[in-house]
Amino acid sequence: MLALPNLILIGPMGAGKSTIGRLLAAELSRDFLDTDHEIQARCGADIPWIFDVEGEAGFRDRETQMIDELTRREGVVIATGGGAVLREENRRLLRERGTVIYLYTTVEQQLRRTAKDRNRPLLQRPDKEAVLREMFGVRDPLYRATADLTVRTDRRGPRSVVNDIVRRVTR
Ligand code: S3P
Repeated sequence: MLALPNLILIGPMGAGKSTIGRLLAAELSRDFLDTDHEIQARCGADIPWIFDVEGEAGFRDRETQMIDELTRREGVVIATGGGAVLREENRRLLRERGTVIYLYTTVEQQLRRTAKDRNRPLLQRPDKEAVLREMFGVRDPLYRATADLTVRTDRRGPRSVVNDIVRRVTR
């Protein structure tokens, strides 16, 4: 019997990767894994601490290692961090080891969803909107190049997004 493909969620901060991933996994009776969550559990520290002590490069090394580890599983739903597509090696691993789903959202929606956030070091700046726009310019083409399908999450709730994904991956 063929192994079930992994379903891998990519997209920017505030796109809903963790919320949608959890619901999607429950809907399909699969395990849900989250690279950021696993990195923090393994390290025994939160993401701001890792950025402080090891720098963004240290975090990215941990992220690549975790993507490699988690995508070796079969038939699971995996949520990645927003920067997971930055490295070519990560993009290759994601594409080779699952069906990659880009959760698209707008900068306006990101700003609303991350308004009170203190756990994302890259957003703890007064020029947050400019940072998000710059990131969108760099990353949106990478998300599109990596994904097998793209789903908008800015105009509807997580349930509706999950139903759409289920319909598209099971047909
Ligand atoms: C990051 C996104 C975060 C987390 C880290 C860096 C990014 O994950 O990995 O703060 O570079 O966009 P979420 O997308 O889950 O917020």
